[in-house]
Amino acid sequence: MSFLNQLFKKEKLNIDLGQLPNHVAIIMDGNGRWAKKRGLPRNVGHREGSNALRKIVEASSKLGIKHLTVYAFSTENWKRPKNEVDALMSLLLEYLKNAERELSGKNVRIRVIGNIKGLPEDIQKEVARVEKLTAVNSGLSLNMALNYGSRDEILQAIKGIAKEVENKTLCVENIDENTVARKLYTSEIPDPDLLIRTSGEKRISNFLLWQLAYTEFYYTDVLWPDFREKHLIEAVREYQSRHRRFGGI
Ligand code: FPP
Repeated sequence: MSFLNQLFKKEKLNIDLGQLPNHVAIIMDGNGRWAKKRGLPRNVGHREGSNALRKIVEASSKLGIKHLTVYAFSTENWKRPKNEVDALMSLLLEYLKNAERELSGKNVRIRVIGNIKGLPEDIQKEVARVEKLTAVNSGLSLNMALNYGSRDEILQAIKGIAKEVENKTLCVENIDENTVARKLYTSEIPDPDLLIRTSGEKRISNFLLWQLAYTEFYYTDVLWPDFREKHLIEAVREYQSRHRRFGGI
């Protein structure tokens, strides 16, 4: 048994580090309710939410998870009041600006999925800088969904495929699942094995609709700002108790 496995057994975590989900996706929900419960402004909830993310990135990296995809800002989130959108954008900017200092020595690669061109210019610049800077890292890949909407992503893929058919560079008969997958933002990222949604809601909310086809879902009532390593381990334990059949028996 490896040293890490011994350590986790000793702490009675009872997870098998040899059977970790390769890719964990998280819908980080409940920041607003966390703040409301304390009589604080919603934006304080978002700040605590970004701190929770820092801790979960560290925990995932320590466990040896290869991909962590987090829903940080959806294409629908623009409908929120301007002050909340601005607060979320400045938290994102801060997160990206501090990424190298915080993640230093952790071998984490940052990738952004979503409609990057629809984000403010300062964020676009930071995204390009951080993606380039961390591209050589071979540990955890932190995939941040920013200005992300799955229907929009699939629509763009369909348009791209239609263009290739129109240009006669692709035959309709040759279109298969890989043709579609290659056109998605996640073309270089494997499908998630485990999806976690916090705060008791049980919706997909336009997140990774194509990619979640065979993913195991895990819901918890814990609000995102309270979500810690022990909750992640609990989700992994539950995942390891499932029998994945991928449509077979
Ligand atoms: C849902 O809480 C959360 C979001 C809108 C996106 C997640 C944002 C963060 C974790 C903070 C910033 C992120 C980064 C990467 C720095 P909600 O407002 O919908 O909560 P509610 O349902 O309780 O109102």
